[in-house]
Amino acid sequence: MFRKLAVRAVTRAEKLAALYNEYESNPKLKRLREGATQLVRGMGQPRDPWILFVGEAPGKEEDLQGQPFVGRSGKILNNMLASINLDRKRDVFVTNIVKYRPPNNRDPMPSEKEASISCLLREIEIISPEVICPLGKHALESLFPNERITSAHGVPLYFEGKTFFPMFHPAVMLYDPGKTKEIERDFQKLGELLDKMSETIE
Ligand code: URA
Repeated sequence: MFRKLAVRAVTRAEKLAALYNEYESNPKLKRLREGATQLVRGMGQPRDPWILFVGEAPGKEEDLQGQPFVGRSGKILNNMLASINLDRKRDVFVTNIVKYRPPNNRDPMPSEKEASISCLLREIEIISPEVICPLGKHALESLFPNERITSAHGVPLYFEGKTFFPMFHPAVMLYDPGKTKEIERDFQKLGELLDKMSETIE
């Protein structure tokens, strides 16, 4: 007699939960973890996100709430998404390379980014978005060490069958408002790229 085994596919949410548990026990991130309130997991459209945005590391508000991009940069990101008819909850997934807040909002250290990159690559694999947008130099250079955000922003990069669209970090608008127009233009270009991609998919 054969006994029927109820084999259930592991869901994307379960895979992500296992990945974040692994990240939480990474000994190379012990110091960073001890200085933070909590792990800030990636968040967003759970089933089939079009786009993945990758930031640098959580700030104060993100550390308190345990969610990425919920502070001032997050408000800018949400407004920019709305300007191209994208909704944070419906269409996108948002994460950071480093998932604990560095003390006093300092830049993440190279060793912290190195210890975190495999988690980001796994997130990309699990989420499998159409487009990946590294936000700012830390995200871009962790994925493409030879690229610089000043020249790479707003230009699609095609790598291993995936489309990357580097953009300035939204916080740039706060400390360098002169870049606002350029950032708005890049979001418009992203919208055009997505329109073109959806035409070819249909
Ligand atoms: N800046 C980031 O890079 N990530 C966040 O989650 C918030 C601010």
